[in-house]
Formats: sequence, structure tokens, C-alpha cells
Amino acid sequence: MQATAQAQPNIALIKYWGKSDVAANLPAVGSLSITLESLWTKMSVEFSSDATTDKLFLNDELNDQMLLRVSQCLDLVAGNERRFAVVRSHSNFPVAAGLASSASAFAALVLATEHALGGSRDTLALARLAGNASGSAARSLYEGFVELQCAGGQIDLQVLLPPSAWPLRVIVAITEEAAKPVGSGEAMLRSAATSPFYPGWVAQQENDLAEARTAVADRDFAKLAAITEHNCLKMHSVMWTSRPSIVYWSKATLACMQVVRELQVHGTPVFFTIDAGPQLKAVCLPEAEETVVAALRSAPGVIRTMVSGLGGGATILDGQ
Ligand code: DP6
Repeated sequence: MQATAQAQPNIALIKYWGKSDVAANLPAVGSLSITLESLWTKMSVEFSSDATTDKLFLNDELNDQMLLRVSQCLDLVAGNERRFAVVRSHSNFPVAAGLASSASAFAALVLATEHALGGSRDTLALARLAGNASGSAARSLYEGFVELQCAGGQIDLQVLLPPSAWPLRVIVAITEEAAKPVGSGEAMLRSAATSPFYPGWVAQQENDLAEARTAVADRDFAKLAAITEHNCLKMHSVMWTSRPSIVYWSKATLACMQVVRELQVHGTPVFFTIDAGPQLKAVCLPEAEETVVAALRSAPGVIRTMVSGLGGGATILDGQ
């Protein structure tokens, strides 16, 4: 009754922001992401008849803060009658700072739980369960360029391109390692309830997805760059115009954005995206990697950079 799974975070190029059904955690909009390669979360789940409660260890430290969400996710996969479990999570990147840590965590947790129980659900069924725990987690079950669509009260996912078909590089500029002030789930509800831009955001998402889908199919970097930055800035405009406003950026985030803009002016194939946190993610063609890393490292406020290619979906490391 034990298994370990690994999943990589994914970065949305066309973002999920807003829920159409809060109880089922159903996204109000589709999204399109890239799964990373060298950042990972490893989750081991051990069900035990001796345990009297669930326990969660994050990087070897007992953690109560995330325990409820983890227990609820275990219930989703294993049912309410399940035994208690000890869950151990290790990540090689900062947790809860807008780095999609919940995506890799819940993708790995769902897969490890299913395997520990000897279940036979397919990837889509597991992705739907992961999405129920955290919307972006559904995408981390899959490799490369992934599109998530919502139809008929559930989500569907599709790999648009495997990582080898268009090996883009991602440079994450870490500007802060602390947890974010407002969680994305809560922030989305606030945006939907209060931002005058929210209806427009939802209405335009299909167009943005179509543009990005075509750019990916054609490997058209300039087109993907333009729609990704537009979609990101539109999402942050919705956040900023929520009441109270939600501002995840810091001075360093803006400095990084400026660096990317300057690189673009000089012809470097790079674009940026930013999620629910102050880190900036730059996406570039392989030949531009060194230039982008050097430029971001010199931006004021950048603590360090992490580089990744595009990678595979969640996998089992050991178990049963
Ligand atoms: C800005 O997946 O963390 O990263 O479903 O409430 O857990 P919950 O939200 P979450 O939101 C991700 C928001 C985002 C955009 C994205 O990844 O698409």
C-alpha cells in the first residue's frame, strides 16, 4: 500500500483564472501550458492500518498547512473509507511562491495514491481528479504542450506537441522565496466577484487559445510570444482591478519584464509570463538561453535563476 510518483510543474501560456463551479473546482476557461523537465515534486504515499490520522511531510518537515487539501485529495482518489496515510513530498524548487508547486504536487499525489491502491484509472481520469484538487495540476499529468478544455461539466486534456517536437527553454527568475500573500484559489473567486474586466477575460479566452494552438502547431515563436504576453497581462489586469486588488508583482518582477523587453528589441527570441507570484518565467529558443540567463541574473532583485527544458508527464517511481 505504498507508492512514489514524480511530476513536473507546468507553466500556463494561456492562463486558467476563474472557476465556473467552485465545489467541483471546474475552470471557467480553457488553458494551454508547457510541462517542465528539470523541476520536480516527488510524492510518496503510504496507507497504513496503524495510523490514526493523515500526516504530511514537506521536504522532511511535518506540515499542517497543506494537510487538509492533501487529505481531501486522498479522499477523492481512495474514497472516504480509506485508511490513513503518510504523505512525503520533496520538491527541488520553492513551494507556494507562484511556481506551480500545487500543480506538480497534486499530479504526483493522485498518481501515487492510485498506484498505492493498485487502481487502474487511465491518465484522463487521474487528470480530472488532480484538477479537482488544483486546476493547473490536471495539466501536469501530460507531457509537452498541453491544452485543457472545459465542456459538459468536466475537463478534457490533449497533448498538442511532445517536448521533443519544439524544445523551448524556460528560465525562471526567482525574486522571492516566501509564500504568496493570497492563494490563487481565493484570488480567483475575488476576481470573478469584483473585477469589471472579468467577463471580458472569460469571453476572449477561446480566441486566445485558438491563436496559441495555431502558433504551437506552426512552431511560430513570434506568434506564441505575442499571445502569451497578452494573455498574461490580461489576467494580471483582472487581478489588479479586483477589490481589494491582487498584485503579485514586485519591483524585481517589473525589472525582469524590462530585461525581456530589451532583449526582444535586440532580436533575442524570448517572451515572458507571470503567474500568481512575483517570479518571472522567460521562454526562449534554445540558442538564446545563455543570453537570457545572463540578462535576468543581472536584473535587480533576482535571487537566482532556474533553467528547464520541456518534459514529460507524471510517472511512477516505485511502489505497491
Ligand atoms: C495563475 O491551479 O493553483 O497559475 O484550482 O484553485 O488550485 P486552484 O488554482 P491553481 O491556479 C493556477 C493559476 C495560474 C494560471 C495557470 O496555471 O493556468
